[in-house]
Amino acid sequence: EKGTYPHFMLKEIDEQPFVMRRIIKEYQDENNELKLDGDIRAAMQACDRVYIIACGTSYHAGLVGKHFIEKIANIPVEVHVASEFSYNMPLLSEKPLFVFISQSGETADSRSVLVRIKEKGYPALTITNVPGSTLSREANYTLNLYAGPEIAVASTKAYTAQIAVLAILAVDSARAKGLSLDFDPMQELAIAANAMEILTDQKDTIEELAKNYLATTRNAFFIGRSSDYYVCLEGSLKLKEISYIQAEGFAGGELKHGTIALIEEGTPVIALATQEEVNYAIRSNVQEVVSRGANAMVVSMRGLEQDDDAFVLPHVHELLTPLASVVPLQLLAYYAALHRDCDVDKPRNLAKSVTVE
Ligand code: F6R
Repeated sequence: EKGTYPHFMLKEIDEQPFVMRRIIKEYQDENNELKLDGDIRAAMQACDRVYIIACGTSYHAGLVGKHFIEKIANIPVEVHVASEFSYNMPLLSEKPLFVFISQSGETADSRSVLVRIKEKGYPALTITNVPGSTLSREANYTLNLYAGPEIAVASTKAYTAQIAVLAILAVDSARAKGLSLDFDPMQELAIAANAMEILTDQKDTIEELAKNYLATTRNAFFIGRSSDYYVCLEGSLKLKEISYIQAEGFAGGELKHGTIALIEEGTPVIALATQEEVNYAIRSNVQEVVSRGANAMVVSMRGLEQDDDAFVLPHVHELLTPLASVVPLQLLAYYAALHRDCDVDKPRNLAKSVTVE
């Protein structure tokens, strides 16, 4: 039930900090140690490469997951769109582990890959919000998202839950390999949950930004580098699916290779700047679009902010920034859709669970 909320999407955006805290609790034992099914740990240790398979928003979470598993656990990862993988299967490593990410656990494109790889005898782990779902039953292992039912067609809390569970999977694999971490993952997740709560309390500010930047535009661009780029893909998907604004997310460095031709007077460009390593580079991309007339909105992070930034996120660990940066982008999409009189929870042409290929 949506209670006092006008839309499920807004309710589900607001639930994100609580979902984070539930995940922290569910994946900890009584000694506050990270707790994961031993069989899943063994499967991660036995593989020589992880193949993440997913669609849409879950695919975007998978890209962030690749970042975690490679950086934290030092295991190579490929991320594939399920519908492409089915028909254009890459050469596989000797000991692949397949990880299916699916909120519903019923997505036909992902299931089709699962059926194929099971035929070949490869192991599969499903990360899902619905433990009894088809993808969960048919895989060898399941990790639960604990996000609670997601009703709005546009996925929000499932995306952040997927990212948190992927971080836990990466940390567990790193520990099993004897790699030492220079941060306390559960504490950093708790800090991210607090940041999300601060962000969901800033709705008025983001509604104002949505009005200023997105009220009448036909198109919008999202730019970022490194993991900010992955969040840009998700921010642009959210915006296009519920507000019908033609939106594109791309890597800042790619601007000059084509897309910059589309920048004209007043084109909204939303730039994420949460990564110290690429801060200088993304700032110069912002200069490039501003000098061509773009209406740039920089979303940065405490510690990296500059005077003209439109929005500054509370500080979170550099690996977990997607958990914070996606929240204003979800809210931007929500308010843009609201002010354009779109049906936020049930956008045209879309279904919550896509059970056809
Ligand atoms: C976008 C959205 C879709 C789903 C995609 C996969 O907001 O919800 O892109 O993410 O259809 O669905 P699941 O995760 O259920 O496999």
